[in-house]
Amino acid sequence: MLKSVGYGATSAHAPLDLMHFNRRDPGPGDVQIEIAFCGVCHSDLHTARAEWEGTVFPVVPGHEIVGRVTAVGAEVSRYKIGDTVGVGCMVDSCQQCGSCHEGLEQYCETGFTGTYNSPEKHIGGVTYGGYSNNIVVSEKFVLRIPDNLDLAAAAPLLCAGITTYSPLKHWNVQKGHKVGIVGLGGLGHMGVKIAHAMGAHVVLFTTSSGKKDDALRLGADEVVVSTDPAQMAAHVNSFDFILNTVAASHDLDAFLVLLKRDRTMTLVGVPAKPHPSPQVFNLIGKRRQLAGSLIGGIAETQEMLDFCSQHGLTSDIEMIPIQKINEAYDRMLKSDVKYRFVIDMASLEA
Ligand SMILES: NC(=O)c1ccc[n+]([C@@H]2O[C@H](COP(=O)([O-])OP(=O)(O)OC[C@H]3O[C@@H](n4cnc5c(N)ncnc54)[C@H](OP(=O)(O)O)[C@@H]3O)[C@@H](O)[C@H]2O)c1
Ligand SMILES: [Zn+2]
Ligand SMILES: [Zn+2]
Repeated sequence: MLKSVGYGATSAHAPLDLMHFNRRDPGPGDVQIEIAFCGVCHSDLHTARAEWEGTVFPVVPGHEIVGRVTAVGAEVSRYKIGDTVGVGCMVDSCQQCGSCHEGLEQYCETGFTGTYNSPEKHIGGVTYGGYSNNIVVSEKFVLRIPDNLDLAAAAPLLCAGITTYSPLKHWNVQKGHKVGIVGLGGLGHMGVKIAHAMGAHVVLFTTSSGKKDDALRLGADEVVVSTDPAQMAAHVNSFDFILNTVAASHDLDAFLVLLKRDRTMTLVGVPAKPHPSPQVFNLIGKRRQLAGSLIGGIAETQEMLDFCSQHGLTSDIEMIPIQKINEAYDRMLKSDVKYRFVIDMASLEA
């Protein structure tokens, strides 16, 4: 067994704290990675505090992992010791079903293996995530981090980047489209940057009027304070696509009415408490659609990393030592993230 050390929670009410645990030794198809940095996603908080059903304790969160390869199994062909690599939200899937064959492992029909809090198929128990010093992952789920990207700032691409890139691609965002991004947090700020790089006219919706200048700097063309009805009314029937990243229950109708006929708002935020149901009239009157999207497949994640490399895109990060993780969670709940916390794993030795 490989010895690991990291930060995890033993119950929904316990703060994250130092934990020692075992991982499998790398098998023939596995890559062992020394983790340099790990981003902090709001899903980590939802899971650690058991806001969604199904958290198995203890839980070690973290699925925005970057680091260096320290060992490879005999059958590994794509990576070698010393390579700079990443791991996102998935570490395995069935590799047999229709979705897996289409490169949509996130929709694996028997369920993908999450980077944390999923059944560990090799040694039993559950998978442990990236708030730790090392990880062992099948090479099929390892990504290559382009050399020109700052490593720490690239970590959030592994979840926040792909979760916004995938729906923007799927709903065919094009140059000149008017695209709304709702919420300027980890996902939202990547949504703004990526939609801008795709050539869209980007409108950022925020509940935090103080984020306006940042949004414009990050690539938004306009900023709307979503709690101001007059500002919202000015955009009725005008959007080609809206990507909603909000992590809390809120009124979806306020955004649905902003779509043109036949256009879609896609939800990626997964609040603990459900949203109030939208008014059907707001859908049928203009044949509008309300959709959802889950991260992105492995091939598409590599495509997104290469897109970010070409456009020089990374996340705006605030680096923290791992000892500050509980404080970071509390700030995330207050929408006080500029715009992704990233853990410097060197702090584990402190
Ligand atoms: N679908 C997927 O595959 C996927 C992947 C990753 C994460 N997620 C989910 O996506 C959500 C966002 O994650 P994140 O890491 O980006 O979180 P985050 O950094 O906390 O950002 C969420 C943003 O939502 C806005 N917000 C928060 N509370 C709000 C409220 N009560 N009303 C309106 N807006 C509010 C805030 O933006 P403003 O201050 O600008 O209003 C906040 O910065 C989480 O639920 C997470 O679990 C889903
Ligand atoms: Zn995430
Ligand atoms: Zn599958």
